[in-house]
Amino acid sequence: MTDAIEQNLRLLRAERDLSCFDIYSIDQLTAGDLSLIFDLARGFREAKTAKLSLGKGNTQINCFFEPSTRTQASFDLSAKHLGMDTTNVGGGSSSAKKGESFIDTAETLDAYNAKTIIVRSAEAGVAEVIARHVNASVLNAGDGWHEHPTQGLLDALTMLDQFESDDLKGRIITIVGDIMHSRVFGSLVRVLVKLGATVRVAAPATLLPDEVDKFGVTVFHNIEVALDGADVVYALRVQEERGAKGFIPTLREYAKTFGISERRLELAKPDAILMHPGPVIRDIDVHSALVSRHPRSRILQQVENGMAVRKALLWLLVDRVDKALKEFSRM
Ligand code: CP
Repeated sequence: MTDAIEQNLRLLRAERDLSCFDIYSIDQLTAGDLSLIFDLARGFREAKTAKLSLGKGNTQINCFFEPSTRTQASFDLSAKHLGMDTTNVGGGSSSAKKGESFIDTAETLDAYNAKTIIVRSAEAGVAEVIARHVNASVLNAGDGWHEHPTQGLLDALTMLDQFESDDLKGRIITIVGDIMHSRVFGSLVRVLVKLGATVRVAAPATLLPDEVDKFGVTVFHNIEVALDGADVVYALRVQEERGAKGFIPTLREYAKTFGISERRLELAKPDAILMHPGPVIRDIDVHSALVSRHPRSRILQQVENGMAVRKALLWLLVDRVDKALKEFSRM
Protein backbone atom coordinates (compact mmCIF):
# COMPACT_ATOMS: atom_id res chain seq x y z
CA MET A 1 0.00 0.00 0.00
CA THR A 2 2.68 2.55 0.97
CA ASP A 3 4.77 1.45 -2.04
CA ALA A 4 1.88 2.42 -4.31
CA ILE A 5 1.49 5.79 -2.56
CA GLU A 6 5.21 6.55 -2.89
CA GLN A 7 5.19 5.49 -6.52
CA ASN A 8 2.26 7.84 -7.16
CA LEU A 9 4.10 10.70 -5.42
CA ARG A 10 7.21 10.08 -7.55
CA LEU A 11 5.05 10.18 -10.67
CA LEU A 12 3.48 13.47 -9.53
CA ARG A 13 6.93 14.87 -8.86
CA ALA A 14 8.19 13.88 -12.31
CA GLU A 15 11.82 14.42 -11.24
CA ARG A 16 11.22 18.10 -10.55
CA ASP A 17 13.18 19.95 -7.83
CA LEU A 18 12.74 23.22 -5.98
CA SER A 19 14.84 26.13 -7.22
CA CYS A 20 15.97 26.99 -3.67
CA PHE A 21 17.70 25.20 -0.82
CA ASP A 22 16.09 27.09 2.10
CA ILE A 23 12.73 28.85 2.30
CA TYR A 24 12.45 32.05 4.30
CA SER A 25 10.29 34.12 1.91
CA ILE A 26 7.66 33.49 -0.75
CA ASP A 27 9.78 35.83 -2.93
CA GLN A 28 12.24 32.95 -3.44
CA LEU A 29 9.66 30.69 -5.10
CA THR A 30 9.20 30.58 -8.87
CA ALA A 31 5.95 29.73 -10.67
CA GLY A 32 7.45 26.26 -11.27
CA ASP A 33 8.17 25.85 -7.54
CA LEU A 34 4.59 26.76 -6.67
CA SER A 35 3.03 24.27 -9.07
CA LEU A 36 5.44 21.54 -7.89
CA ILE A 37 4.55 22.21 -4.23
CA PHE A 38 0.79 22.24 -4.91
CA ASP A 39 0.91 19.08 -7.08
CA LEU A 40 2.77 17.15 -4.39
CA ALA A 41 0.68 18.57 -1.55
CA ARG A 42 -2.46 17.20 -3.22
CA GLY A 43 -0.77 13.79 -3.45
CA PHE A 44 0.24 13.89 0.21
CA ARG A 45 -3.26 15.00 1.22
CA GLU A 46 -4.67 11.92 -0.47
CA ALA A 47 -2.15 9.75 1.38
CA LYS A 48 -3.54 11.09 4.71
CA THR A 49 -1.53 9.71 7.66
CA ALA A 50 0.23 6.90 5.76
CA LYS A 51 3.64 6.18 7.24
CA LEU A 52 6.01 6.63 4.32
CA SER A 53 9.74 6.12 3.91
CA LEU A 54 10.52 9.08 1.61
CA GLY A 55 12.44 10.85 4.39
CA LYS A 56 13.71 7.76 6.23
CA GLY A 57 17.13 8.05 7.84
CA ASN A 58 16.91 11.85 8.05
CA THR A 59 16.59 14.07 11.09
CA GLN A 60 14.58 17.26 11.55
CA ILE A 61 15.01 19.81 14.33
CA ASN A 62 12.01 21.99 15.11
CA CYS A 63 13.48 25.13 16.59
CA PHE A 64 10.56 27.15 17.94
CA PHE A 65 11.92 30.15 19.81
CA GLU A 66 8.33 31.50 19.91
CA PRO A 67 5.27 29.36 20.83
CA SER A 68 3.12 27.61 18.22
CA THR A 69 0.34 25.04 18.15
CA ARG A 70 -0.55 24.44 14.49
CA THR A 71 2.78 24.99 12.77
CA GLN A 72 4.95 23.07 15.21
CA ALA A 73 2.59 20.07 15.44
CA SER A 74 2.20 20.08 11.67
CA PHE A 75 5.94 20.18 10.88
CA ASP A 76 6.63 17.51 13.48
CA LEU A 77 3.89 15.13 12.32
CA SER A 78 4.71 15.75 8.66
CA ALA A 79 8.34 14.75 9.17
CA LYS A 80 7.27 11.66 11.12
CA HIS A 81 4.82 10.62 8.37
CA LEU A 82 7.77 10.82 5.96
CA GLY A 83 9.75 8.47 8.21
CA MET A 84 12.08 11.15 9.64
CA ASP A 85 13.30 11.47 13.22
CA THR A 86 12.43 14.75 14.91
CA THR A 87 13.32 16.67 18.02
CA ASN A 88 11.94 19.93 19.36
CA VAL A 89 13.93 22.82 20.80
CA GLY A 90 11.99 25.77 22.17
CA GLY A 91 12.16 29.22 23.68
CA GLY A 92 12.51 27.53 27.07
CA SER A 93 15.75 25.80 25.99
CA SER A 94 18.90 26.45 27.96
CA SER A 95 20.38 28.38 24.98
CA ALA A 96 17.56 30.93 25.05
CA LYS A 97 17.80 31.26 28.82
CA LYS A 98 21.60 31.46 28.96
CA GLY A 99 22.00 34.10 26.26
CA GLU A 100 23.44 31.93 23.45
CA SER A 101 22.99 33.60 20.03
CA PHE A 102 20.64 32.25 17.37
CA ILE A 103 23.63 31.42 15.17
CA ASP A 104 25.54 29.53 17.88
CA THR A 105 22.39 27.61 18.80
CA ALA A 106 21.75 26.72 15.16
CA GLU A 107 25.37 25.68 14.50
CA THR A 108 25.20 23.43 17.56
CA LEU A 109 21.99 21.78 16.35
CA ASP A 110 23.38 21.47 12.82
CA ALA A 111 26.23 19.39 14.23
CA TYR A 112 23.64 16.62 14.76
CA ASN A 113 23.60 16.35 10.95
CA ALA A 114 19.93 17.30 10.67
CA LYS A 115 18.63 17.60 7.12
CA THR A 116 15.95 20.17 7.95
CA ILE A 117 15.82 22.87 10.62
CA ILE A 118 12.46 24.57 11.11
CA VAL A 119 12.73 28.03 12.70
CA ARG A 120 10.08 30.18 14.36
CA SER A 121 11.11 33.43 16.04
CA ALA A 122 9.57 36.60 17.42
CA GLU A 123 12.16 38.58 15.41
CA ALA A 124 12.23 39.07 11.62
CA GLY A 125 15.08 37.53 9.65
CA VAL A 126 16.19 34.79 12.07
CA ALA A 127 15.52 31.88 9.68
CA GLU A 128 17.42 33.61 6.88
CA VAL A 129 20.43 34.36 9.09
CA ILE A 130 20.49 30.78 10.38
CA ALA A 131 20.27 29.44 6.82
CA ARG A 132 23.60 31.15 6.04
CA HIS A 133 25.36 29.31 8.87
CA VAL A 134 24.15 25.69 8.68
CA ASN A 135 24.36 22.77 6.26
CA ALA A 136 20.75 21.74 6.86
CA SER A 137 17.92 23.16 4.82
CA VAL A 138 16.14 25.89 6.81
CA LEU A 139 12.40 26.55 6.66
CA ASN A 140 10.92 29.72 8.11
CA ALA A 141 7.97 28.81 10.34
CA GLY A 142 7.16 32.48 11.04
CA ASP A 143 9.58 35.33 11.79
CA GLY A 144 8.30 38.32 13.71
CA TRP A 145 6.07 40.60 11.63
CA HIS A 146 7.77 39.51 8.40
CA GLU A 147 6.68 36.20 6.77
CA HIS A 148 5.20 32.76 7.38
CA PRO A 149 5.74 31.06 4.00
CA THR A 150 4.14 27.67 4.69
CA GLN A 151 0.99 29.44 5.95
CA GLY A 152 0.79 31.44 2.73
CA LEU A 153 1.24 28.27 0.66
CA LEU A 154 -1.39 26.26 2.52
CA ASP A 155 -3.82 29.16 2.21
CA ALA A 156 -3.19 29.43 -1.53
CA LEU A 157 -3.71 25.67 -1.95
CA THR A 158 -7.03 25.94 -0.08
CA MET A 159 -8.19 28.70 -2.45
CA LEU A 160 -6.97 26.98 -5.64
CA ASP A 161 -8.80 23.79 -4.70
CA GLN A 162 -11.95 25.71 -3.81
CA PHE A 163 -11.99 27.29 -7.27
CA GLU A 164 -10.63 24.16 -9.02
CA SER A 165 -8.06 26.27 -10.80
CA ASP A 166 -4.29 26.57 -11.29
CA ASP A 167 -4.37 30.30 -10.58
CA LEU A 168 -6.47 32.99 -8.86
CA LYS A 169 -6.95 35.32 -11.83
CA GLY A 170 -10.26 37.17 -11.57
CA ARG A 171 -10.70 36.21 -7.89
CA ILE A 172 -11.15 38.88 -5.22
CA ILE A 173 -9.54 38.09 -1.86
CA THR A 174 -10.39 40.47 0.98
CA ILE A 175 -7.96 40.34 3.91
CA VAL A 176 -9.34 41.90 7.08
CA GLY A 177 -7.68 42.76 10.37
CA ASP A 178 -4.29 43.42 11.90
CA ILE A 179 -2.29 43.69 8.69
CA MET A 180 0.60 45.58 10.27
CA HIS A 181 1.70 42.91 12.77
CA SER A 182 0.89 39.94 10.56
CA ARG A 183 3.59 37.71 9.10
CA VAL A 184 0.73 35.65 7.65
CA PHE A 185 -0.20 38.70 5.57
CA GLY A 186 3.45 39.06 4.52
CA SER A 187 3.49 35.64 2.87
CA LEU A 188 -0.15 35.45 1.83
CA VAL A 189 -0.12 38.69 -0.16
CA ARG A 190 3.07 37.66 -1.97
CA VAL A 191 1.68 34.28 -3.06
CA LEU A 192 -1.75 35.69 -3.97
CA VAL A 193 -0.18 38.32 -6.22
CA LYS A 194 2.01 35.64 -7.87
CA LEU A 195 -1.18 33.65 -8.59
CA GLY A 196 -2.89 36.66 -10.16
CA ALA A 197 -5.52 37.43 -7.48
CA THR A 198 -7.02 40.85 -6.85
CA VAL A 199 -6.20 41.60 -3.20
CA ARG A 200 -8.15 44.01 -1.01
CA VAL A 201 -7.19 44.86 2.55
CA ALA A 202 -9.53 46.27 5.18
CA ALA A 203 -8.23 47.46 8.53
CA PRO A 204 -8.19 50.41 10.89
CA ALA A 205 -5.65 52.93 9.53
CA THR A 206 -3.54 52.33 12.65
CA LEU A 207 -3.16 48.62 11.82
CA LEU A 208 -1.92 49.17 8.27
CA PRO A 209 1.81 49.41 7.46
CA ASP A 210 2.76 52.72 5.78
CA GLU A 211 3.91 51.01 2.57
CA VAL A 212 1.14 48.44 2.20
CA ASP A 213 0.44 49.76 -1.34
CA LYS A 214 3.79 48.38 -2.52
CA PHE A 215 2.24 44.88 -2.49
CA GLY A 216 -0.23 45.87 -5.19
CA VAL A 217 -3.29 45.74 -2.92
CA THR A 218 -6.25 48.11 -2.67
CA VAL A 219 -6.82 49.55 0.80
CA PHE A 220 -10.32 49.98 2.27
CA HIS A 221 -11.20 51.54 5.62
CA ASN A 222 -14.86 50.59 5.24
CA ILE A 223 -15.20 46.84 5.64
CA GLU A 224 -18.64 46.66 4.00
CA VAL A 225 -17.23 48.08 0.77
CA ALA A 226 -14.18 45.77 0.95
CA LEU A 227 -16.35 42.67 1.32
CA ASP A 228 -18.70 43.49 -1.54
CA GLY A 229 -18.31 40.78 -4.21
CA ALA A 230 -15.32 39.03 -2.56
CA ASP A 231 -14.59 35.37 -3.37
CA VAL A 232 -12.62 34.85 -0.16
CA VAL A 233 -12.92 36.63 3.17
CA TYR A 234 -9.63 36.13 5.03
CA ALA A 235 -9.69 37.33 8.66
CA LEU A 236 -6.53 38.00 10.69
CA ARG A 237 -6.18 38.00 14.46
CA VAL A 238 -5.55 41.19 16.43
CA GLN A 239 -2.06 40.31 17.64
CA GLU A 240 -2.00 41.42 21.24
CA GLU A 241 1.41 39.79 21.84
CA ARG A 242 2.87 42.27 19.30
CA GLY A 243 1.25 45.27 20.92
CA ALA A 244 -1.78 45.56 18.63
CA LYS A 245 -4.10 46.56 21.46
CA GLY A 246 -2.28 49.90 21.61
CA PHE A 247 -3.47 50.62 18.04
CA ILE A 248 -7.24 50.21 18.58
CA PRO A 249 -9.67 51.78 21.07
CA THR A 250 -10.80 48.41 22.55
CA LEU A 251 -11.19 44.86 21.25
CA ARG A 252 -14.97 45.26 21.51
CA GLU A 253 -14.93 48.33 19.32
CA TYR A 254 -12.58 46.62 16.86
CA ALA A 255 -14.99 43.66 16.66
CA LYS A 256 -17.89 45.99 16.00
CA THR A 257 -16.08 47.79 13.17
CA PHE A 258 -14.00 45.00 11.56
CA GLY A 259 -15.09 41.64 13.02
CA ILE A 260 -16.58 39.16 10.52
CA SER A 261 -20.25 38.51 11.35
CA GLU A 262 -22.82 36.50 9.36
CA ARG A 263 -24.30 39.78 8.14
CA ARG A 264 -20.92 40.96 6.85
CA LEU A 265 -20.13 37.60 5.25
CA GLU A 266 -23.38 37.91 3.28
CA LEU A 267 -21.88 40.94 1.49
CA ALA A 268 -19.33 38.69 -0.22
CA LYS A 269 -20.29 36.47 -3.19
CA PRO A 270 -22.99 33.87 -2.39
CA ASP A 271 -20.40 31.06 -2.63
CA ALA A 272 -17.58 32.97 -0.90
CA ILE A 273 -15.49 31.14 1.67
CA LEU A 274 -14.18 32.28 5.06
CA MET A 275 -10.57 31.66 6.05
CA HIS A 276 -8.39 32.43 9.09
CA PRO A 277 -4.85 31.21 9.91
CA GLY A 278 -5.66 30.48 13.57
CA PRO A 279 -5.63 30.83 16.43
CA VAL A 280 -9.05 32.52 16.11
CA ILE A 281 -10.17 34.90 18.82
CA ARG A 282 -13.86 34.08 18.69
CA ASP A 283 -16.28 37.01 18.57
CA ILE A 284 -13.39 39.44 17.99
CA ASP A 285 -11.87 38.47 14.59
CA VAL A 286 -14.79 36.26 13.57
CA HIS A 287 -18.22 35.60 15.05
CA SER A 288 -18.18 32.28 16.91
CA ALA A 289 -20.94 30.71 14.77
CA LEU A 290 -18.77 31.07 11.65
CA VAL A 291 -15.60 29.44 12.93
CA SER A 292 -15.40 25.67 12.55
CA ARG A 293 -18.61 23.94 11.47
CA HIS A 294 -20.08 26.71 9.32
CA PRO A 295 -20.49 25.61 5.67
CA ARG A 296 -18.48 28.58 4.43
CA SER A 297 -15.60 28.12 6.87
CA ARG A 298 -12.41 26.54 5.47
CA ILE A 299 -10.43 27.03 8.69
CA LEU A 300 -10.00 23.31 9.44
CA GLN A 301 -9.35 22.61 5.75
CA GLN A 302 -6.46 25.09 6.04
CA VAL A 303 -5.03 23.07 8.94
CA GLU A 304 -5.28 19.82 6.94
CA ASN A 305 -3.65 21.46 3.93
CA GLY A 306 -0.83 22.63 6.20
CA MET A 307 0.27 19.02 6.71
CA ALA A 308 0.12 18.32 2.99
CA VAL A 309 2.15 21.40 2.01
CA ARG A 310 4.76 20.76 4.72
CA LYS A 311 5.20 17.13 3.69
CA ALA A 312 5.73 18.23 0.10
CA LEU A 313 8.34 20.80 1.14
CA LEU A 314 10.18 18.49 3.51
CA TRP A 315 10.46 15.74 0.90
CA LEU A 316 11.72 18.23 -1.69
CA LEU A 317 14.21 19.88 0.68
CA VAL A 318 15.59 16.66 2.14
CA ASP A 319 16.33 15.52 -1.39
CA ARG A 320 17.83 18.90 -2.21
CA VAL A 321 20.22 18.61 0.76
CA ASP A 322 21.25 15.09 -0.35
CA LYS A 323 21.97 16.33 -3.85
CA ALA A 324 23.95 19.33 -2.58
CA LEU A 325 26.09 17.05 -0.42
CA LYS A 326 26.71 14.75 -3.37
CA GLU A 327 27.72 17.68 -5.58
CA PHE A 328 30.02 18.96 -2.81
CA SER A 329 31.68 15.56 -2.34
CA ARG A 330 32.44 15.39 -6.09
CA MET A 331 34.31 18.74 -6.06
N1 CP B 1 -1.22 29.83 12.05
C1 CP B 1 -0.19 29.66 12.91
O1 CP B 1 0.97 29.95 12.62
O2 CP B 1 -0.56 29.14 14.12
P1 CP B 1 0.43 28.69 15.28
O3 CP B 1 0.99 29.95 15.91
O4 CP B 1 -0.41 27.89 16.24
O5 CP B 1 1.55 27.89 14.69
